[in-house]
Amino acid sequence: MKKLLFQFDTDPNPSVFDTVVAYDGGADHVIGHGGLNPDNVGSLVEGAIFTRPPKEKKFTAIFVGGGNMVAGQNLFKAVQKMFFYDFRVSVMLDSNGSNTTAAAGVAKLGTSGTLAGKKAVVLAGTGPVGLRAAIMLAKEGAEVSITSRTFDRAEQACFDIKERFGVDATGIGAPNNDTRGEAVKNAQIVFAAGAAGAKLLEAHHWRDNPNIELIADANATLPLGIDGTDMMDRGKERNGKIIWGAIGFGTLKLAVHRACIAKLFEANDQVFDAEEVFALAKEMA
Ligand SMILES: NC(=O)c1ccc[n+]([C@@H]2O[C@H](COP(=O)([O-])OP(=O)(O)OC[C@H]3O[C@@H](n4cnc5c(N)ncnc54)[C@H](OP(=O)(O)O)[C@@H]3O)[C@@H](O)[C@H]2O)c1
Repeated sequence: MKKLLFQFDTDPNPSVFDTVVAYDGGADHVIGHGGLNPDNVGSLVEGAIFTRPPKEKKFTAIFVGGGNMVAGQNLFKAVQKMFFYDFRVSVMLDSNGSNTTAAAGVAKLGTSGTLAGKKAVVLAGTGPVGLRAAIMLAKEGAEVSITSRTFDRAEQACFDIKERFGVDATGIGAPNNDTRGEAVKNAQIVFAAGAAGAKLLEAHHWRDNPNIELIADANATLPLGIDGTDMMDRGKERNGKIIWGAIGFGTLKLAVHRACIAKLFEANDQVFDAEEVFALAKEMA
């Protein structure tokens, strides 16, 4: 029985990155569909759940991706809403690598120091990776703030994660590097989740800050989110702070992503969202 992964993307073109990792994770065939939303996904889900006999349903799985976290969450929910009795297949949500990237970054930070009870700032935390990093840091007991260039977006991000995961975070409007430097003034943990190539902090903002202990930067495109760090940093100490660069924890991200794909085919009732992906990342970190 071939392992079939249906890649449901909220963007017009299914992500090539996710297709490659799906094959590397053990799928025999990856079938991508783009431009999906709760209104047009129904017949695709029916095709996945009605075709194979109960014992062989585990060889069909669904992966939800795309650039928009809220759209991905809504699609993920709509897919699962169609399941009934044993008419279901395993599902994973990872819009823009959100769950796997955030899980790997936060899990690696957790190997370098205590997260519980610390003040954590997720810089540019309004994208898929930042939103998930904020949730995972909060679940580990950190007191989380999220910055955005606009206060309204920061507030909306906090509202979205409260609504979906019940965790609290504080929104901060920080339109430039100096205001972001101010936002991390009292933080022990900084997770940079800005868009590729967007510099968020100058080196002096963290080097001269005596409170910061742990830094992770998800951006692997120059210039980096945190100036003065290196994307290859793997728990490297710089100026008394432990740094995890995007490639430094990216190896774990890829390993976690592949492991989740492999697990989808172990049973037909697996669900991989933030909590499950983070639990696996902590085990693997
Ligand atoms: N290391 C890995 O394994 C891995 C895997 C996947 C993704 N990534 C990287 O992780 C990062 C986050 O991914 P994502 O998809 O969540 O990012 P994203 O949605 O593209 O961007 C995140 C946020 O960055 C802010 N931003 C955009 N342009 C900016 C600018 N010029 N200056 C300051 N802020 C800016 C925006 O926030 P506001 O508009 O609210 O300010 C945006 O919501 C990216 O750099 C991505 O390449 C890494």
